[in-house]
Amino acid sequence: MVLSSGDKANVKAVWTKVQGHLEDYGAETLDRMFTVFPQTKTYFSHFDIHHGSIQVRNHGKKVMLALGDAVSHIDDIATALSALSDKHAHTLRVDPVNFKLLSHCFLVVVAKHHPALLTPDVHVSLDKFLGTVSTVLTSKYR
Ligand code: HEM
Repeated sequence: MVLSSGDKANVKAVWTKVQGHLEDYGAETLDRMFTVFPQTKTYFSHFDIHHGSIQVRNHGKKVMLALGDAVSHIDDIATALSALSDKHAHTLRVDPVNFKLLSHCFLVVVAKHHPALLTPDVHVSLDKFLGTVSTVLTSKYR
């Protein structure tokens, strides 16, 4: 998936709106994922995942910070997320199908909080960006 310069600009514009709400949006993304796709809860059996859980808020913020890191290094996401890619492939062994579910929930969060921002063009760019991040994080499975 190749991000055009327009895609990169669109993703950066989205991030300027997201970065002040990392914990809230991250927690809402995870909350939605656990509710809409309950099978994803199996990876978090060691977490308290009830609505409003501090653990979910903390983890949501970590996920958003990693996405922010990818935005800051949008020309070389593979290098920026290399350690995280190792972790998801070798330690966590998250089935790659779940990345689409998380990405979808994040898109819904952006759409809900910034409806005017998510034009069809920006939607495509964000989708491509999340697809690129997911490809990187699932690239080391063997
Ligand atoms: C851990 C990011 C997708 C399950 C993490 C960590 C980050 C992260 C930053 C913390 C790593 C550390 O502490 O060293 C992301 C990003 C994703 C993604 C950016 C996709 C955009 C997923 C998906 C699942 C998942 C789809 C499963 C449904 C986990 C689990 C942990 C983890 C179980 C360990 C939690 C803990 O015990 O603290 N992820 N992740 N991740 N991730 Fe992901």
